Amino acid sequence: MNVVYLSPGFPAEMPLFVRGLAEVGAKVFGVGDQPAAALPIEARQALSDYLQVRSLSDEDGIVAEVRRWLRGRSVDRVECSWERLMYLAARLRAEFGVPGMNVEQTAVVRDKERMKEAVERAGLRVPRHGRARTRHEAWAVAEHVGYPAIIKPIDGAGSQNTFRCNDAAEFEAALQKTREVVEVSVEEYIEGEELTYDTVCAGGRILFENVSWYRPKPMILAQNAWISMQNIVLKDIHADFPRPGVELGHGVLKALGFEYGFTHMEWFRTASGEAVFGEIGGRPPGARLVHAMNYAYDIDLFRGWAEAVCYGKLSQDTSPKYNASMIFKRAQGPGSVVREHRGLRELLARYGEHIATIELTPIGEPKRDWRKVVVGDGWVVVRHPDLQLTLQMSEAFVQDLTVVAG
Ligand SMILES: Nc1ncnc2c1ncn2[C@@H]1O[C@H](COP(=O)(O)OP(=O)(O)O)[C@@H](O)[C@H]1O
Ligand SMILES: [Mg+2]
Repeated sequence: MNVVYLSPGFPAEMPLFVRGLAEVGAKVFGVGDQPAAALPIEARQALSDYLQVRSLSDEDGIVAEVRRWLRGRSVDRVECSWERLMYLAARLRAEFGVPGMNVEQTAVVRDKERMKEAVERAGLRVPRHGRARTRHEAWAVAEHVGYPAIIKPIDGAGSQNTFRCNDAAEFEAALQKTREVVEVSVEEYIEGEELTYDTVCAGGRILFENVSWYRPKPMILAQNAWISMQNIVLKDIHADFPRPGVELGHGVLKALGFEYGFTHMEWFRTASGEAVFGEIGGRPPGARLVHAMNYAYDIDLFRGWAEAVCYGKLSQDTSPKYNASMIFKRAQGPGSVVREHRGLRELLARYGEHIATIELTPIGEPKRDWRKVVVGDGWVVVRHPDLQLTLQMSEAFVQDLTVVAG
């Protein structure tokens, strides 16, 4: 099983997927723009060969170069877990005639309007929506959508340039702020909780599925520096709270004809219990959610994913063991150096046995820029089979732990 893997060393979680592929027995041929010597050790150890290209933007050039480089070797899969290179992966799949998302399918999961159109055509609930390239188009869509509305880039990430607008004046202000964005999606704002529905698929079958719950919504998190994010992997995805999203997710995957690999969908749960589609990626979730799922299910989904895409099965025990809440802390205080982990000792004494992992910026080190480092100044996972207890512990880490910068 020969697998071409795009950008094995960057972003941070890529070496773990490469390691997974090697562990299930695949030969991995990495393609990236980093020098081989700069690759993280985990990636380097797992690769059979590596091609450094000059620029990851030159798709035609890379396709030709990879073909030359691999002459005489067979290619069975082309994999990529980084949003930015998904078109390139699809082009290479076509070139080598291997399974996985093609260019057309990639376009659907990379364009926030096309994905909503596809989901809507299947009769599933999406926010009222439309695309706009000009001010004129944006106002026309806003009129149809009504207020509150959301405006966001058509292919955005990380809630960048995403604004809620409660009336026409706020919409005008948001248009000003998104002037540089070439194309936007304007949507009906959906009130409610925000959750994920994630899967690992092979041959169009769902081999693993997961629901996690964002607290608060990612958009709020991106706009408020003091908030500690919680993302809670739910043990019982068939309970009343997550179930509508699981049903929606099944419909969405069918509508998209998704076949191989990870999917990451976001959805809203309204007060009446309705699930409304948010967006979907044909790739693993970021922000350490794969790690959090691993803690909740006591499995290794980096390897599980690799087995699924290479051999069409996931042979680990995927029964849920815990609810797992992942908390990201951002340092508070006027200074730029971390001085104290306030409250940590008490929390460790109280909940030590339920803490799956904890990593805070060490005392004496500069505080991190949470806009660049997703975990900010701290990453904690607590887990327990009981959801209420998990939520309580999670809330305690939000309220009672402060990474103090002085
Ligand atoms: N229609 C909507 N209703 C309510 N909130 C939304 C809506 N669209 C986006 N948001 C908020 O903005 C965030 C970012 O939007 P999203 O479409 O997920 O883009 P991305 O994650 O790629 O930046 C969402 O996680 C959610 O918090
Ligand atoms: Mg999103």
